[in-house]
Amino acid sequence: MKIAIGADHAGYRLKDEIVPFLQSLGHEIEDLGCDCDQSVDYPDYAVPVAERVAQGKADRGILICGTGIGMSIAANKVPGIRCALVHDMFSAKATREHNDTNVLALGERVVGPGLAQEIVRIWTETPFSGGERHVGRLNKVMQLEAANVIHP
Ligand code: RB5
Repeated sequence: MKIAIGADHAGYRLKDEIVPFLQSLGHEIEDLGCDCDQSVDYPDYAVPVAERVAQGKADRGILICGTGIGMSIAANKVPGIRCALVHDMFSAKATREHNDTNVLALGERVVGPGLAQEIVRIWTETPFSGGERHVGRLNKVMQLEAANVIHP
């Protein structure tokens, strides 16, 4: 599949380890940076990756910062994005099966490269379970996004 990937200064080293790994699994990678230690702002990398996915120009997105938290918050502001912050293999599988997540966030300061590779492998290989239960819940999430309302 085609995967857009982005990172900030605290995540680009892990990105540079994940990119060849994903390529070795046969994926086409669009690397949207960054590639240096100079401090940058994670939304500037989260949004372009999320937009590539939302526009259908990439099948999935992967975002890496120090914790993965800022990237996941920013990506989830883009309509159509379901981004999960994942640091274990169980959640990597579950978030594909239950949430049909289209963007994965990782924290370079949280996971080592070996675990990160296993997480991305599982997350890219696991299909959405589908079914009335999960589809119904995701429809409710999409309705929230469409309504853009905060209930009192
Ligand atoms: C950068 O220091 C750090 O705040 C950022 O990479 C990320 O962890 C934010 O959520």
